Amino acid sequence: MSSNDLMAKFAERRPKSIVMFERARKVLAGAVGHDLRYSLPTPIYIDHGRGGRKWDIDGNEYIDFLMGNGALLLGHGDPEVLDAISRAAARGTHFGNDHPLHIEWAELVQKLIPCAERVRFTNSGTEATHLALRIARAATGRNRILRFAGHFHGWHDDVVHGFQPPFDADGSLGVPPHFRQGLITIPDGDLSHFEETLAANDDIAAVILEPSGASWGRVPIDLDWLRGVREATARRGVLLIFDEVVTGFRFSSGGAQKLYGVTPDLCCLAKVMAGGMPGGAVAGRESVMRVFDITGDPFHDRHRRVVHFGTFNACPASAAAGIAVLRRIADGSAIERADAAALRLRNSWDSVLERHGIAGYAYGIASTYHVYFETDPGRVRGARSRRDLQTTDAARLKGMPGPLIAQYQLRMRFGGVDNMSSTGGVTCAAHSPDDIDFATRVFEETVLALRDEGLILTLH
Ligand SMILES: Cc1ncc(COP(=O)(O)O)c(C=O)c1O
Repeated sequence: MSSNDLMAKFAERRPKSIVMFERARKVLAGAVGHDLRYSLPTPIYIDHGRGGRKWDIDGNEYIDFLMGNGALLLGHGDPEVLDAISRAAARGTHFGNDHPLHIEWAELVQKLIPCAERVRFTNSGTEATHLALRIARAATGRNRILRFAGHFHGWHDDVVHGFQPPFDADGSLGVPPHFRQGLITIPDGDLSHFEETLAANDDIAAVILEPSGASWGRVPIDLDWLRGVREATARRGVLLIFDEVVTGFRFSSGGAQKLYGVTPDLCCLAKVMAGGMPGGAVAGRESVMRVFDITGDPFHDRHRRVVHFGTFNACPASAAAGIAVLRRIADGSAIERADAAALRLRNSWDSVLERHGIAGYAYGIASTYHVYFETDPGRVRGARSRRDLQTTDAARLKGMPGPLIAQYQLRMRFGGVDNMSSTGGVTCAAHSPDDIDFATRVFEETVLALRDEGLILTLH
């Protein structure tokens, strides 16, 4: 099916979504609520989800590898989580006071995450990275932040530059120039360059990174480099912040820091931690988190401490969902099931690419997967096997052509599979081998269509 026919057929099977999109365009700024939800001929509008699947308002079924932008590790509608939310909501949706669930949630985070001597809740991952940088500046008395090209830390002004290529260009309109001056962006993976940058800038408060590697592992991290970063920052008194918004409670019950045995000073948490409800946190060393300590009248000692408000911080329903999920995750078995689903997916999808000689590969860690298609004809011509293509970190960081990604996503959705972003996704504990096998058939059809359209290349 040509891409034009596909567009028409996709719309034909989604009449209610087309109408919803028309309504959305008249009322929502930018037509959607998150940039990545935008797609043509229409975004999908979800009616409900169960386990590893979800259904749109037109009744189309999807194997869901978006999983609430990675927030759901147990899948949709987990009975224990739903029960915890409704029991908490029945007692009051929000008080503005602290409550026992808040403390219990923090205790679980403290028990599970190695660096979490103290915890402070926020409402999202973006708020968590925003707060972590403020904490780091307050604790060190320095101002600049060192980050790595392609690592994602949310959408606030401190970190919006440096995520998408070209990395030295502005990440968004509307950000005052002094934010750029406060940020140093370098590539990850080169320890000498990193150490030289630290040595040349004595005003760096913190280094922030995704411990999976850029964009939840699309460009995987080099573990020796990560250990080197830990040592170098400790030596220089620069705080190391792991952004574990995706990896926390997904890469292991103690996040990437437990999996890799590298403990940061601070970490940012969200997504899985809040069990599918809004929520985030900064967790870290007690000596650093002391910047919150109230030393007198909280309204008048603000020159000596970090100020942090937030109407809905650790609201009861989020805390209840978070507690239910973290209790389940603690023994590791749910994570193992999600990991097994992703492993089956990566192996099956890579076999599809091998069988058809496609210049690409599937990879990933824990319950994540990514697919990379090499679209540089020169590189493909020079490769003897797909293995030769697998050292393309710079290319992976640059990303694949937009039309290829859009076609990939549309074809996968048309076949009944929803990805997370680009060509990657996450699995959950509820994804069955049958779900993965179904998704593999859709992947194969998609890849063959992309090949026939000349959007992806074959070897030889
Ligand atoms: C690594 C990372 N950090 C921060 C964020 C921002 O989190 P939120 O969307 O909850 O603001 C995200 C979101 O995808 C993320 O992947």
